Amino acid sequence: MNIFTRRDFLQQGVQAGAGLALGGALLNCAAAETLQDELPLCTKPLEKVRIGFVGVGHMGTVHVHNLLQIEGVELRAVCDIVPEKVTRAQKLAEKAGQPKPKAFTRGPEDYKRLCQEEDLDLVYTATPWELHVPVCLAAMNNGKHAATEVPAAVTLEGCWKLVETAEKTKKHCVMLENCCYDRVELMILNMVRKGVLGTVFYGECGYLHDLRYQVKHSDRGEGLWRPQHSIRRNGNLYPTHGLGPVAQCMNVNRGDQFDFLVSMSSMSICMNEYAKRLPPGHQYANQKFAQGDVNDSLIRTKNGCLILVGHDTSTPRPYSRRIEVQGTKGLVRKYPDPLVWIEGRSKNHNQYDPIEPYLKEYEHPLWKGIQEKIGESGRGHGNMDYIENYRLIRALLTGTAPDMDVYDAAAWSAVSELSERSVAHRSRSVDFPDFTRGRWKTRKPLGIVTA
Ligand SMILES: NC(=O)c1ccc[n+]([C@@H]2O[C@H](COP(=O)([O-])OP(=O)(O)OC[C@H]3O[C@@H](n4cnc5c(N)ncnc54)[C@H](O)[C@@H]3O)[C@@H](O)[C@H]2O)c1
Repeated sequence: MNIFTRRDFLQQGVQAGAGLALGGALLNCAAAETLQDELPLCTKPLEKVRIGFVGVGHMGTVHVHNLLQIEGVELRAVCDIVPEKVTRAQKLAEKAGQPKPKAFTRGPEDYKRLCQEEDLDLVYTATPWELHVPVCLAAMNNGKHAATEVPAAVTLEGCWKLVETAEKTKKHCVMLENCCYDRVELMILNMVRKGVLGTVFYGECGYLHDLRYQVKHSDRGEGLWRPQHSIRRNGNLYPTHGLGPVAQCMNVNRGDQFDFLVSMSSMSICMNEYAKRLPPGHQYANQKFAQGDVNDSLIRTKNGCLILVGHDTSTPRPYSRRIEVQGTKGLVRKYPDPLVWIEGRSKNHNQYDPIEPYLKEYEHPLWKGIQEKIGESGRGHGNMDYIENYRLIRALLTGTAPDMDVYDAAAWSAVSELSERSVAHRSRSVDFPDFTRGRWKTRKPLGIVTA
């Protein structure tokens, strides 16, 4: 019995004895076992998770660092087109007391050899966006689970390929959306589950982050590949950080479903102005960018929820994910500061309550449990990067369904191409594909998961 199965076994005993409900992931799985060949998939519990990691740049290295601190993880292989980055990851593994992982540095398609030749349980990718689908497909088609950074795919075709391959191979394909595990987002989900906000019907979210500097540093990191998307494309290119947590509050794919979307972009001026400031001869000096500076997309769900998803990565402004979740009893918002207003509890009709008393009352047990385990030390983006990996590894070691599955990866990522299509056609509404093929109607909502 690995550490997680042992703990879950004990926990089940205690909870059953006390008459308490089990965490959502376990409930999901019990249901899934009767579905046999359908997702969410419960796989055989693993004794350990042998990982091959593809793409160890900025985010990949954060993940490697976190994964190496989770019991039951073995980093067996590392792939990158830059050999020095692989060496850095190998050293991290050795420092953590593990054998040196095998290096795969024979060029841009060497991830295929990693998937074909290595005996692995999970292939994890933190490569540029356009590589996420090819790496995940190579992993699943070679009998490995797949995990990817966000967005899982930049086209609808890519989303469908992930879904179809996960179903065909019966492998997990998890998009790691770390923002679902941030403290306030988790608290909001907990409040929603406890009915404090009533019936949720409205959400706001987005990714508002001044990334103009990437163009300046076009010879390294994300600067090497990400600006190309803004040069060619115009829509909501990075939707999942804000949308993931809101979609979970609304039970998207588990009782509700994205129905259609309309999207509009402003003119493209800030990035183009910024490019003019670059020194003459710089690759992006005088570059024209297609991406409108601000894109707003509106999503309507089948049950009638409305979600505003923003995208703004090229204007001078402070960071925000513009989170707001509103229900029939009140609302919570985050950015610039988290605030709450609940009918019957908030004293002033025109003033929000501070977050602190609500955090005391509704702190998510997952957040609380992880803080007790690792402290406030901060393992990437205030610990949410650690929690996402912890939850993924826990699912594989216990054979339970992950919190986010391939249908979430597809639906949340589909906003990229759908918004581009809408923008290109004077904000015409576009329908979401039903990646679950009707199963969203019967799938059970995520419960309150624990550490
Ligand atoms: N969740 C978050 O908070 C967060 C934050 C930053 C980045 N990201 C995501 O992480 C991913 C990676 O971003 P990053 O900032 O680490 O970028 P990065 O450019 O620093 O890292 C990408 C790595 O992939 C490698 N690579 C490129 N082509 C490859 C190939 N064919 N085979 C193997 N390796 C290859 C690069 O050499 C580089 O090391 C992106 O999807 C990005 O959106 C997420």
